[in-house]
Amino acid sequence: MIEQFELLLPKKFDLYIEPFVGGGALFFNILPSDAILIDLNFDVVNFYTVVKNDVEKLIDDLKTHRNESEYYYMMRSVNLDSLNSIQRASRFLYLNKTAYNGLWRVNKKGNFNVPFGRYKNPKILDEDNLRNVSLALRDVSIIWSDFSIALDYAKSNTFVYFDPPYHPLSKTSNFTNYSGTFNVKDQIRLAECFKLLDKRGCFLMLSNSNTPLVRQLYANYDVHIVRARRMINSKAEGRGEIEEIVVRNFST
Ligand SMILES: C[S@@+](CC[C@H](N)C(=O)[O-])C[C@H]1O[C@@H](n2cnc3c(N)ncnc32)[C@H](O)[C@@H]1O
Repeated sequence: MIEQFELLLPKKFDLYIEPFVGGGALFFNILPSDAILIDLNFDVVNFYTVVKNDVEKLIDDLKTHRNESEYYYMMRSVNLDSLNSIQRASRFLYLNKTAYNGLWRVNKKGNFNVPFGRYKNPKILDEDNLRNVSLALRDVSIIWSDFSIALDYAKSNTFVYFDPPYHPLSKTSNFTNYSGTFNVKDQIRLAECFKLLDKRGCFLMLSNSNTPLVRQLYANYDVHIVRARRMINSKAEGRGEIEEIVVRNFST
């Protein structure tokens, strides 16, 4: 979707904040010089922190993994308290590369529960890529928090890109449960945060599903329809192209 997004970015800004960073597709595309990345998923934040500070130790640990079912289920159920931060980051990437559909899903207790993917030759370790990511993160602050902490850092001319867990299109489509549930109250809390940052003079951009609630929450802002191909879905029929929206408080 990056081609569609590039046309919508602000021309100039001082600081970049991404409060739902996840895989950080936009961040890694624009590589801003001054950036703060935030996520509520501890594994995501620990992973980036280790890539930033300890990439060589992470690479060494990644060499120990095996793409075998028995080993996978052993890693999946390992006691997380027994792992140091490097081992935990290594497990995170290993599971991400070998789990079914590359999905990250946890149960109510927070335990990762995706079955083994049975890929022939998954690229568990890409040393060049990890070292490049480490360089890209060198001067970046990475924070484990709820998105609202962006309010503590954003100033006028800060560009904030929000890519929250989407408001579900239907009651059954909300399987994308990355880190606890992100419910209607959270969507409303996010829209309030958006309004506060708007008043502060930030450049704001937000992705979400094209639902009546989302359109109502951002009715006073500029809304673009973008086409998205959803790759991660437990049901094959949910994998086609769908419409999503990008909300902005500025025009280019
Ligand atoms: C749609 S994904 C972001 C995808 C990302 N743009 C990418 O390129 O991969 C949403 C992210 O929000 C995180 N998240 C969920 N609830 C959150 C919250 N209350 N505050 C901050 N992050 C949250 C999830 O852990 C997940 O990484």
